[in-house]
Amino acid sequence: MANGNGQGTNGQAGIGAKVAEGVREGLTKSRNSLQGSQLWSSIFRPGSFLRQGYSDSPRNRSYVIMNNVLYHLHPVKVKRHAVKVSYTLCLGGLSFFLFILLTVTGIFLMFFYRPTAAQAWNDIKTLETAVTFGSLVRNMHRWGAHLMVISVFLHMSRVFYHGAYKPPREFNWVIGVVLLLLTLLLSFTGYLLPWDQLALWAVTVGTNMGGFTPVFGDEVKFVLLGSKEISSDTLLRWYVLHVLFFPFIIVIFMAVHFWRVRKDGGISGPL
Ligand code: HEM
Repeated sequence: MANGNGQGTNGQAGIGAKVAEGVREGLTKSRNSLQGSQLWSSIFRPGSFLRQGYSDSPRNRSYVIMNNVLYHLHPVKVKRHAVKVSYTLCLGGLSFFLFILLTVTGIFLMFFYRPTAAQAWNDIKTLETAVTFGSLVRNMHRWGAHLMVISVFLHMSRVFYHGAYKPPREFNWVIGVVLLLLTLLLSFTGYLLPWDQLALWAVTVGTNMGGFTPVFGDEVKFVLLGSKEISSDTLLRWYVLHVLFFPFIIVIFMAVHFWRVRKDGGISGPL
């Protein structure tokens, strides 16, 4: 049928389809040239469905795991029992999660806390009463620390129950023992920081015990206190150990621990 301009509706539809096809072709061309560019392929590694010529093949599935910063911590193939929550109870993963939570909440607390005898206790009071979310974050940090000690201990018990301390995993068990020690040291150094009566006397007891070390007792106690008796020097010393030294060391040991789980052939078999 003709309209006033002398063109049929069929003709209009034909032009519309051609324009749409042209746009589609243009888009495909620019997508192909973007996906073929060096920038694109340097970001999306082989196996990514965002790369040119992607196909859902076993090789590409393996690449997805190998080439992703987070996935590559996992093996390409896992044993069926290894993904059963009831085998590991995810206790190792939970310990790691708690460590991340403690790092994030700890950084928040650092914005408001000054490690001197004159300021520490007041800063904690201010955190509890005047800082937005201060009390919540402080308690997340406190409870997180208690939970991490418990979850690391339970993880160790699970590993022991499954006999995963035996070859070839004996080295990772030793790394684990160091991790347990570091977790306890992180907990204990954090204990002094509120600078209240509980903290002062707990650290007095702890450092006095250190003083009973055979032969070097006095030296050990002096190194722990940073002075003859508990003082601002002790607080500064334990603060640095708590926020910097022990976290740094535990991260290194965790990296070796995770790497070793992979190298020992994934987690141990079922009982
Ligand atoms: C900060 C503390 C720790 C973290 C974050 C951690 C994390 C992990 C993770 C994620 C796994 C993989 C399997 C699983 O989740 O159970 C694992 C396995 C293992 N962990 Fe730990 N772990 C810690 C402490 C320990 C301790 C204290 C021990 C023993 C003394 C230990 C010994 C082992 C062993 C032997 C394996 C291999 C288990 C198997 O093959 O079944 N870990 N750890």
